[in-house]
Amino acid sequence: MTEIERRLEKIYSQTTKTERAEIDRAAKLIKEGKLVAFPTETVYGLGANALDADAVRKIYEAKGRPSDNPLILHVASVEMAEKIVELNGAARALIEKVWPGPLTLVLPAKEIVPLTTRGGLETAAVRMPDNRTALELIRAANLPISAPSANKSGRPSPTDAQTVREDLGDAVAQVLDGGATKIGVESTVIDMTQGNPILLRAGGLPKEEIEEILGTEVLLPQDKNTAKRSPGTRYRHYAPKIPLLLAKAKDAEKLAEGKKFAWMGTSKSSGKPIETLVFENETEYAHEVFRALRRLENSGAEIIIAETPPEKGIGLAIKDRLNRASGD
Ligand code: TXA
Ligand code: MG
Repeated sequence: MTEIERRLEKIYSQTTKTERAEIDRAAKLIKEGKLVAFPTETVYGLGANALDADAVRKIYEAKGRPSDNPLILHVASVEMAEKIVELNGAARALIEKVWPGPLTLVLPAKEIVPLTTRGGLETAAVRMPDNRTALELIRAANLPISAPSANKSGRPSPTDAQTVREDLGDAVAQVLDGGATKIGVESTVIDMTQGNPILLRAGGLPKEEIEEILGTEVLLPQDKNTAKRSPGTRYRHYAPKIPLLLAKAKDAEKLAEGKKFAWMGTSKSSGKPIETLVFENETEYAHEVFRALRRLENSGAEIIIAETPPEKGIGLAIKDRLNRASGD
């Protein structure tokens, strides 16, 4: 038994009979080509059979997502990953250390993956989520499940089942409820098809940890070419219904320019926000950031001001989401 299989055994041993019945029903829907929303350790996903182009098309329709923005294929075993992408040595080293976990690898796709799933690219993105419900669902369906975050395109990602129902309730055949997600921001996406790994999206697994495992630097996508190869980064994302600014705590009052503002961050702001969300640390900031955006847009404030997170560890992912939510 491999180390990953041991980790999975431990996870599966906790599933109850009631859960199993619900998951089996969901797996049947997936096999019939329907959409099922499910929890992962990062955010909730809107899932469909990744190998069925018609099923995958329903994801794009339900989200209102541009069809050239490829999806992540979620797997429940390394064998399943090997059926859809070409793994290399560095990819295997990472997989062994961090799967199941919030790391998505972009690798050469095998022909079995429909072009619809990979947005017409020659590569595909693959990850093994660290969530019992997600893993059980993939295992029961015995298929890779493609799943973007289960929100309407452009809105903050959902970190609980209720938010999924609000955004996409009509479009999905079933929502599996696994409570609040553990991490709160999406997985880290890295391109493993070049010499050095390239960070396509900061996320739940800090870049520093990847560098430590591989002993090589993870490059940031600087030139236009790299940006082109990560289609998701082209679109505005995560946007609340009112404007959002990033700032240091001491500058909040000045930036609000007399407007009613709501504040979130790991410290208190200057001035008098009409609502304040203060998180204990960056981990909690990540856990709460999407829920906070949805809450503060309804607080009666005219503008949300969020504390600029540090550019390291999980802070990099929070900053990326807030920047894109603010329209930068
Ligand atoms: O945590 C997560 O990753 C969540 C949960 C549900 O697993 N999923 C998620 O999916 O965030 P989505 O579709 O919202 O983001 C997928 C990102 C996009 O930025 C997309 O452009 C990128 O991965 N991506 C997917 N396939 C790619 C490929 N072949 N080459 C480059 N980027 C790719
Ligand atoms: Mg998304």
